[in-house]
Amino acid sequence: MEYPKALVSEGMARIMVPEIIPSEGETLEGARSWAPVFYNPIMKMNRDSAILALGALQRRLSRPLTICEPMCGTGVRGIRMALEVSGVQEAVLGDMSYHAVRLAEENIRMNGVTDRVRVRRMEANLLLSLHARPLARFDYTDIDPYGTPAPFIDAAARATRRDGMVALTATDMAPLCGVNMRACLRKYGSTSLRTGHSHETALRILAGSFVRGAAVHEVASRPAFGFFADHYIRLYMRLDRGKRRADESLREMGYLLHCSGCRSFRSVKGGLDERGGVCEACGSEMKAEGPLWLGDLADECFCSDMIEVSEDSFIGSNRRLMEIIGSVRREIGMPPGFFVIDELSSDLGVASRRIEPVIDGLKASGFKATRSHADSRGLKTDAPVEEVKRIILGPDA
Ligand SMILES: C[S@@+](CC[C@H](N)C(=O)[O-])C[C@H]1O[C@@H](n2cnc3c(N)ncnc32)[C@H](O)[C@@H]1O
Ligand SMILES: [Zn+2]
Repeated sequence: MEYPKALVSEGMARIMVPEIIPSEGETLEGARSWAPVFYNPIMKMNRDSAILALGALQRRLSRPLTICEPMCGTGVRGIRMALEVSGVQEAVLGDMSYHAVRLAEENIRMNGVTDRVRVRRMEANLLLSLHARPLARFDYTDIDPYGTPAPFIDAAARATRRDGMVALTATDMAPLCGVNMRACLRKYGSTSLRTGHSHETALRILAGSFVRGAAVHEVASRPAFGFFADHYIRLYMRLDRGKRRADESLREMGYLLHCSGCRSFRSVKGGLDERGGVCEACGSEMKAEGPLWLGDLADECFCSDMIEVSEDSFIGSNRRLMEIIGSVRREIGMPPGFFVIDELSSDLGVASRRIEPVIDGLKASGFKATRSHADSRGLKTDAPVEEVKRIILGPDA
């Protein structure tokens, strides 16, 4: 089948993509979902983040890298990695779709990287499984599917070197954010709830699912960097070998308990004696979500390395991504979850407050406080909900 194509530039790559021509009444997104090969320009920031993360990994490993992108679409991500990250020795791309593989082959040739990038027409788990043995594993595996990455977690963990990294995109926000709880239980083995900070919880559910999946193989893992943006979450999981370390990473698993009355929440490491409990602040019933990852969603050194890598790249001028990295970095060491200032203001019957004075007020009272990257109205703090409400109401309340 022949179809119209267009040439786009992204990063250092020039890529042929299907030309999207919406029919009457159809949205661009609608037309894109019919395209013979998937290319979404909105995901450029996701791919930019991959370039920085791979660059940061390269600094740590200081060896030539082998990478795999088993769901490559047009090949743009893998080709950009080969062009923009020094030391990519071999990139193995794959896709199940005939048209995707043909287009990726064309793009690999057009970008002059045939010596280092190849593409196979193969189911992703099959491709990864072929590499799931010592010496055949990849340093970096990038799982960028439609919807959930859950069916690929096991094979990705097996196909990645024990000091390597697995990147995961998830766009199935409805299950991860408590809108479709049954699907979340099926895909991730976790209960999700609809709360103000669901987008952060989504990252924690996916991270937790990966940690448990890797631990099966006696591989430890923890997030090196993770963020929510647009309609997706993205996580970079760093692996480490050994049973003991795998046990340590499992110790960061637990639950978040939410009060339905006053919006307070707290985390519980390990298992739950009983689902839920009673809120210490107001006595209402608390609901539990999890199991999920309660540790940090980023690593300080890894974030600094990503920022340093960006300084030698045009990606440094992607202000939105750089702000996300800075914000995620400031969240390190903060408790899981956040308050949404508008929700608390509305509960108190006051007009919504600006977030900065509330953060300053909490800090002046000796608490930690920062914004959440996941919500411009999100406030992360170790202060109890009553304290946050007291500061929202102001000194005259
Ligand atoms: C979201 S697109 C990939 C986009 C690409 N990674 C990028 O950055 O532009 C998902 C791709 O995965 C392919 N795909 C879906 N399920 C697959 C599977 N089980 N094995 C291999 N490829 C699969 C689809 O054909 C599609 O090209
Ligand atoms: Zn309460």
